[in-house]
Amino acid sequence: MVAQRVLWILLGLLLQLKPGTAATLPLLMDSVIQALAELEQKVPATNTSHTASAWLLFAQDSGRHDLLHHFLLEGRTLQATKLDPQQLSPELLGLTKDVAQHGIRGRQEYGVVLAPDGSTVAVEPLLAGLEAGLQGHRVVHLPLDSTATPLEAGATFPDTGAVVSDVRATSPRLRDDVPVTAPDVQASSPGAKARSPTTVDSLLVVTLARDLGLAFLQSPQTWSHSGLGTEGCWDQLSAPRAFTLLDSRASPVTMAFLNGALDGALLGDYLSRTPEPRPPLSNLLSQYYGAGVAGDSGLRSNFRRQNAAALTSAPTLTQQVWGALILLQRLEPTHPHLRGMSQEQLAEVATNATKEFTEAFLACPAIHPRCRWGAAPYRGRPRPLQLPLGFLYVHHTYVPAPPCTDFAHCAADMRSMQRFHQDTRGWDDIGYSFVIGSDGYVYEGRGWHLVGAHTLGHNSLGFGVAFVGNYTAELPAKAALHTVQDVLPGCAVRAGLLRPDYALLGHRQLVSTDCPGDALFNLLRTWPRFAAVSTRPLTTSTCGASFRTSSERGLTPYCSPYAHTASARLLVPLAVHPFRQPRLRFHLFYLEQAPLRCPPVQRQLSPDPASLSFTQAQHLCPPPKKQGL
Ligand SMILES: *[C@@H]1O[C@H](CO)[C@@H](O)[C@H](O)[C@H]1NC(C)=O
Ligand SMILES: *[C@@H]1O[C@H](CO)[C@@H](O)[C@H](O)[C@H]1NC(C)=O
Ligand SMILES: *[C@@H]1O[C@H](CO)[C@@H](O)[C@H](O)[C@H]1NC(C)=O
Repeated sequence: MVAQRVLWILLGLLLQLKPGTAATLPLLMDSVIQALAELEQKVPATNTSHTASAWLLFAQDSGRHDLLHHFLLEGRTLQATKLDPQQLSPELLGLTKDVAQHGIRGRQEYGVVLAPDGSTVAVEPLLAGLEAGLQGHRVVHLPLDSTATPLEAGATFPDTGAVVSDVRATSPRLRDDVPVTAPDVQASSPGAKARSPTTVDSLLVVTLARDLGLAFLQSPQTWSHSGLGTEGCWDQLSAPRAFTLLDSRASPVTMAFLNGALDGALLGDYLSRTPEPRPPLSNLLSQYYGAGVAGDSGLRSNFRRQNAAALTSAPTLTQQVWGALILLQRLEPTHPHLRGMSQEQLAEVATNATKEFTEAFLACPAIHPRCRWGAAPYRGRPRPLQLPLGFLYVHHTYVPAPPCTDFAHCAADMRSMQRFHQDTRGWDDIGYSFVIGSDGYVYEGRGWHLVGAHTLGHNSLGFGVAFVGNYTAELPAKAALHTVQDVLPGCAVRAGLLRPDYALLGHRQLVSTDCPGDALFNLLRTWPRFAAVSTRPLTTSTCGASFRTSSERGLTPYCSPYAHTASARLLVPLAVHPFRQPRLRFHLFYLEQAPLRCPPVQRQLSPDPASLSFTQAQHLCPPPKKQGL
């Protein structure tokens, strides 16, 4: 209540400051929360549950007639909550226009906002999920063929009463939900034998299943290589206004859409299980996009994929996608993509869509693209990797030493590491391929396709992955460890970026360094993909954990202690992996020539620069020179 009152006061101040202007709020989740708080204030307080409905109503009044939403979310409730637009502030009306409908035109994605965790979220599926949850997470029977609803496309409020003959208010945990996951249904591959669904779960259909099914129905071949979950970039991060997709051939099931759909499903499920009086939606959202719902730090947007995987299984979702397509076909017999499709065809679409969603999105790490953390441009000419690679090299950043636990800190750490690597080291870019935060996110460094500067002499052979923090005596967060042990490599193998028989090594196995810290390294040794290496570099490096060649090739070390170890390092990949590709032979040959080209030794034995700050280290180590490539 207190929080709500504070929000109201804030809002009141905002209104006083800008009397009568129609300034639009920045496209932030905080704006959505602020607007919901205003609605909660102005909608007669007798039933706060209708806030999301009211918002949806405004959106739909502005042009969209979505039969399926009306069918599943009961148009009648919406009518009852019709508000006088005069009651609402211009800010709220402006924001409603901006965000209440998700869509893509060209490379611009509309109806999305930037959340505090750095993710971009489509508001429409989020609100639909809240609404479905408030209505009790209903299992809705599909209309039979013969009595298909006589709706005309374009009707605004179908009289759903006749069709939804047996609506049961339930609050299932989907996994245990018997009606939609009958054990005899081999739903992961429905084929002709599987039983077609007779019910759908309104929550899953309005958030995810309908759009997932439709997206796969509409020419999946023309999609970008990444398929599901295309990311994009905001024009600016402090007051974002426009969101541009990174791939012009993105499917409508973008990253922002999937984020919004999962958030809607998770929060809807939470609401449906929460007895009255329910929390105001503005409070619920600020907890979910903040420290966690009702003090549960696991139930927040940072961990939406893990939570969604626990909420629904692939067989359940397949049935829901299939059911959604059948329902749409009945509601809109003239739908251009559904007309004439057989049950079996729809089942195949549902199977493919669910498989892709589950394997290529849900089971993949959430990666913030470079633009999200405010990366400076790459300097120089990037060198592409020849994929797939055979290794994953694990690092800790050491400095910054504290783990980053939220987006603001992780993004700031990324920028400071990039500045250090570019300005002080003279590298083209941040050295690592990926950086792992303790906030549930992976941060894109050089990414999957460009050679990094992380593991001297091996930069072309593997991806360099660094945990933010100093793991000499402590371990990274559980979720971060799980990401590096299972999620990131599993996803990369499926996408053909990493070889199925890849090996995982600690930085110290290839270069004389303490990286990735004793505690972390001891844990790595217990992981199944860890490759034990008997040969350690022969000499002690004068240069600290992150001191690597300035050469982007990583094959022409300028610091001669490394040169002595070149042959030792050569043995390592051979020992752990029987390479046969000519490309690798070339690299090995090249490495052997490297010592001849090194400048004289610069020995600075103590203190170990690894234990110094960035600026201190800078004075001890020889300034890196660009090797002429
Ligand atoms: C709020 O609305 C729901 C759904 O229409 C209804 O079941 C519930 O009784 C209402 N609560 C109050 C306090 O009016
Ligand atoms: C489903 O996936 C299979 C295998 O990838 C493919 O051959 C088939 O054409 C797909 N079906 C549809 C309807 O997309
Ligand atoms: C890293 O952790 C170790 C062990 O706790 C500590 O001795 C060292 O000072 C830490 N280094 C930094 C840069 O914080």
